[in-house]
Amino acid sequence: MKPISLIQFLIEERRAGHINAELTLLIEVVARACKRIAVATNKGAIGGVLGEAGTGNIQGEAQKKLDVISNEILLEANAWGGQLAACASEEMEDPQQIPDMYPKGHHLLLFDPLDGSSNIDVNISVGTIFSVLRCPDGVTEPKAEHFLQPGTTQLAAGYVVYGPATVLVLTFGHGTHEFTLDREVGSFILSRRDIRIPEETAEFAINMSNQRHWEPPMQRYIGELLAGQDGPRGKDFNMRWVASMVADVHRIITRGGVFFYPLDAKIKSKGGKLRVMYEANPMAFIIEQAGGSATTGRERILDLQPTGLHQRVPVFLGSKKEVEVATHYHLEAD
Ligand code: AHG
Repeated sequence: MKPISLIQFLIEERRAGHINAELTLLIEVVARACKRIAVATNKGAIGGVLGEAGTGNIQGEAQKKLDVISNEILLEANAWGGQLAACASEEMEDPQQIPDMYPKGHHLLLFDPLDGSSNIDVNISVGTIFSVLRCPDGVTEPKAEHFLQPGTTQLAAGYVVYGPATVLVLTFGHGTHEFTLDREVGSFILSRRDIRIPEETAEFAINMSNQRHWEPPMQRYIGELLAGQDGPRGKDFNMRWVASMVADVHRIITRGGVFFYPLDAKIKSKGGKLRVMYEANPMAFIIEQAGGSATTGRERILDLQPTGLHQRVPVFLGSKKEVEVATHYHLEAD
């Protein structure tokens, strides 16, 4: 079969009425920026891109050089094309306006430029996560409040995982699709159309070092998985934790599984570890479009009304059945 490139796929999606011309170009520009991030990531130590940047982001976290480089690549690539009204990044306190010298479009782009950055220096997969919203009508200088739309309003979401292969996963609300970067040709090629996550699984992902800080329903749920065949679940579960959400989610959309970043006593005052706008919403959209579920442990992530650009939430996502059980335990305990 003839390979289908990302641009061909986008044109077909446009003909099917799933996206407009501006969104077609926007995704093409984001994908091109991610190819540049892949090149920078792949160079590793010889590109001088490893280590700390010596700066902190809005979350008070130390930035890695590649966090800063990836953020700049995405901002620069998207500034001039005319498809955006503004951008927001996990790395910046306020939305970035489009410079006056360029035309403005009707979309808002949000991104986590380099997710899992603690893994960069040890050569483990990292990624970029993005989400696209429509800019409210009549707004010419979008502020944070204009980005605070529930995840159900996302027009597109995707991530790129920079691993052994560079892989883009994308949804426009009509299924979740995967593209693999052909490095020689420089194109993303469709590698899986309409991905389906198995409803049942025997594999979970969680940072077990936080176990003692979790809420009782989370302790109960994971306790039951760990009890294996002899416990109430009657089967053995395997565990994986990459500590790059993109890589953990990619495993789940490839072979099933569940991912949890629950509330714990250490992060309770912040509301959770992962960010609604840059991580939870785009991943929840991708997962649901692949037949999985995504909740905060209490409600559907995509239904949340965000209250802050950098708001954090607990995240449970992946194979439907396990997300349901864990969510049920939390609701039952409330
Ligand atoms: P960051 O991009 O700031 O490194 O955050 C990574 C996120 C997410 O990708 C991952 O699942 C989680 O944080 C890892 O958390 P732990 O440090 O608790 O393992």
